[in-house]
Amino acid sequence: MRNAAPIGVFDSGVGGLSVLRAIHAALPDEALLYCADSCYAPYGERDDAFIAARTLGIGRWLASRHVKAIVVACNTATAHTVSMLRERLQMPIIGVEPGIKPAALQSRTRVAGVLATASTLQSARFNALLAQYGGDCRFVCQAGHGLVDAIEAGDIGSPVVMQRLSACLQPILDAGADTLVLGCTHYPFLLDAVRMITADRLHIIDTGDAIARQLVRRLTDLQLLIDAGPAAAHAELTLAPAPLRLVTTGDAPQLTRIAWQLLGVDAAAEHVEIASEPIYFDAPA
Ligand code: DGL
Repeated sequence: MRNAAPIGVFDSGVGGLSVLRAIHAALPDEALLYCADSCYAPYGERDDAFIAARTLGIGRWLASRHVKAIVVACNTATAHTVSMLRERLQMPIIGVEPGIKPAALQSRTRVAGVLATASTLQSARFNALLAQYGGDCRFVCQAGHGLVDAIEAGDIGSPVVMQRLSACLQPILDAGADTLVLGCTHYPFLLDAVRMITADRLHIIDTGDAIARQLVRRLTDLQLLIDAGPAAAHAELTLAPAPLRLVTTGDAPQLTRIAWQLLGVDAAAEHVEIASEPIYFDAPA
């Protein structure tokens, strides 16, 4: 029975749909429950306690819907709270983090850019990742101010977005980067815009497929895959045969529209209320 349970996927908003696409491609028979916390997006400029309270609240809500695993499809939430979620919820929890390791392995100029939220870039977890895997590669880190808001509104190519994105990418190009890490799950939806602005000069690293592979490994190890047969390697995300449920703390018709615009998915989203879980950090000694 547990194998037939859905996989829960969440993000501050619609960005995690880029991860949902990769998960569906790897596991087309699995039921998916996607939760967008769009009422509270963006997380990227919020403080740690706020992000933790939202993330834990959503994690508990997904657990109460009997998901068999949770994918935190948000770099910002992962950076601040994935370990707290793992301590509190007894199920596989997969986080996402910027692809520093592949960038350091692949860059020929030894300069790579990272585009992520301000909160991810400031986090201890991200800085530990740079220290552990950055090696001799120099990383030029840029916060994508205003980009998440635009994508939440379905804007992935207006002049305003192009201008904001250019401002973020120029210092990366000026530094001689040949590689760009997309360190926020919203940004893969700006791929065409990034390619246009950079004249396709940067090798782009998006970790969506790697997250999906990690999820497949975890569910396989735990014998939690649905019994419907082996995963198809590259199924298209169209009208899914397996159930897909989209919920949002924000505007449901807006999520329905964006899922159609960004993924071509035709599913009516539902509005849900999800309470934050208050977090009490230990006071410094
Ligand atoms: N999509 C998210 C991430 O990967 C969060 C963006 C935001 O809410 O600021 O970081």
